[in-house]
Parts: sequence; structure tokens; C-alpha cells
Amino acid sequence: MKVGMLTSGGDCQGLNAALRGVAKALYNEFGSNVTIYGIRDGYRGLIEGDYHAMSPKDFSDILTLGGTILGTSRQPFKSMQTAEEKEETKLEKMLSTCKRAGFDCLVILGGNGTHKTANLLSQNGINVVTLPKTIDNDLWGTQMTFGFQSAMNIAAQVIDNIHSTAFSHSRVFIVEVMGHKAGWLTLHTGIASGADVIIIPEIPYSAKAVAAAINKRLRVGKRFSIIAVAEGAISKEEAKMSKKEFKAARAAMTYPSISYRLADELKELTGQEIRVTIPGHFQRGGAPCAADRLLCTRLGVAAAELIRKGKFGCMVALQDDKIVPVPLKDVAGKLKSVPPDCELVQTARALGLSMGDV
Ligand code: F6P
Repeated sequence: MKVGMLTSGGDCQGLNAALRGVAKALYNEFGSNVTIYGIRDGYRGLIEGDYHAMSPKDFSDILTLGGTILGTSRQPFKSMQTAEEKEETKLEKMLSTCKRAGFDCLVILGGNGTHKTANLLSQNGINVVTLPKTIDNDLWGTQMTFGFQSAMNIAAQVIDNIHSTAFSHSRVFIVEVMGHKAGWLTLHTGIASGADVIIIPEIPYSAKAVAAAINKRLRVGKRFSIIAVAEGAISKEEAKMSKKEFKAARAAMTYPSISYRLADELKELTGQEIRVTIPGHFQRGGAPCAADRLLCTRLGVAAAELIRKGKFGCMVALQDDKIVPVPLKDVAGKLKSVPPDCELVQTARALGLSMGDV
């Protein structure tokens, strides 16, 4: 049996742990009857026929290794079926590679964009099994993606360290957490690290409401505040705009990110000293935490089991603490956003935290 594996989209912690889980379980089940091929840089390698045979030792010693041993790239879904006249589309090129290489199936590790293309390959007759990765945790069909818990630990550590310096200087700190479309990472991190205000894309903020939360703390003698802001946060005014208006407004924004704009607004409204900290890609790097290693290994073994059973066209997902297959057609193109009234948001509000909206 020939199995092609690739990691696609933004990297995250646990990709190697998950590859290892799949490989170990396949070698254990099929021994020398399976050959695993590593496809370089995600769909780029599949498009260009860049793959190589791997051996069990390639998967040794990578459980705690950050990044991905296969490399990754972003290949937009919308570019998959378009091509110049007489040129093959990327989809056609990928199908040719699978045929030429004789892959019996593909194991694809990725997030939202990756799953749209994985579904497309599956609809075009390729046997596909996928694993859900992203620090954003915004993939539909799974309670949790891998990478999320490791990134949360890092972002929480950032806010923990900011606490002491914010306290010493009586400053307001804005910590910008990754997540353009979904606020899971900011919400979980904010609660886990004791932030005072949490701003996520799903709950548009008002600078006045954030200032009121800071001033309320000042009135009870708390001279510092920490605001966890998702990089994709939007204001109430922006939430009312059409997509086109919003794009134009953001293109005209002179600040490097939303946090700097908010910092200026808050300086004006509170008169306090404001600082911005952006951990950025630091949140995606380094070793996976133990919880992610465990999740990756469970998902990897479950993916190998689907291959053994010949059950394809599925993503292995965590639901009710069990690993279950979810059809790719149900996952592709769906974003798992934070419901604005979910239990965690209610928990934050019950603690007296501000969500930046009222
Ligand atoms: O999808 C994961 C993610 O880290 C997002 O949180 C972030 O908005 C984006 O990727 C950053 O993308 P890039 O690595 O391409 O800069």
C-alpha cells in the first residue's frame, strides 16, 4: 500500500506528533506492506510531484518537535480549478501526481482552507483521510483542533508575564492574540490568564465600553488592566459596514494592527499609559504541549484505522471525548465561530470580565 502524507496551511504545534501517530500505527499494522511518501510543502508538492519515500526512522524522535518535517505552504482553494487556456489546473496536476505515484490514499493535515481542497480531491476520486490542525480551533466538526492548546499555553504565559510589569507601572496592556476570524484562542487564553477585558471578532467592541471597564477597575484601586484582543477584532461601527466598506476602511487604517488603534482610542478616553504586546507567530512555534501530543497521537491512530478499514472521505475529529470520523463534505467551507452567548463567554461575564461590548 502506498500512502501519501502532507501538511498544509499555517503550521502549528503537533503536526509532527500527528504524522508520527499515523505512521507508527500504519507500520505496526502493515509492516513492510506499506510505504509512506512525504509530500513536500503541502499541496505545492502534490501539484509539482515533489514527494519522497519515507522510512520508520523518519518518524522517530519527532513527537515533541515543532513545525512540520514535511514543510507546508498556503495554496488558496480558489486557485485550484482555474488555469490559463490549455494549461492544467492545480487540481488536474494533483490528480495526475496521485495517479503517477500510485497513491492508494492521502493523509492530509490542515485547517479550513486545506479541508476545502481535501474535499475537492475526495470528490474527484482520491481516497482521503484528514486530521484537524490549527491554533485557531475554528474547524467545524471537531471539539478541538490540535495546536490550539499549545498556542493557548504560550499566549497565557505571555499574559502571565505581562501581569507583573503592568502592575509595577500601573499601565494598561493590550495583548494581541492570533485569530483573524474566530476568537477561541483569545477567549480561552483570556480566561485562563486572568485578563480583564477580552475582545473577539464575534463580539464587536466599543472603545468606550473598554474604557469604562478600565475606569471601573481604577475606581476600586486596580491601577493596571490587561486586555486580550483577537487580531481579527472589529468595532461596533465596523460591524455595521458592508464587506466592501469594511475592506476599504481597513485598507485606509494607518495602524499596524487593530491593537494600536485601540491603544490610541483608550489613551484618549482614559488618560492612562497604554502598551501593546504582540506575540504573533511565537504562538505557533516550539514543542506541542502534552495535551496536544496526546490528541495528535489519538487522531493519528484513528486515521490509520480508517485507512485499514478502507473508510475514506473523512476527517478524524474529537467529539464528546471520542475520536470519530466526520464526512469531509460536512466540514469543508464551514467556520466554527464562538457563539456570542456560549458558556465560556457567560463564564467570563460572570467573573465580571468585560467582553468590550457593554
Ligand atoms: O490559521 C492560523 C493563523 O496562525 C491565524 O491565527 C493567523 O491569523 C494566520 O494563521 C497567520 O497566517 P500567516 O502564518 O500566513 O501569517
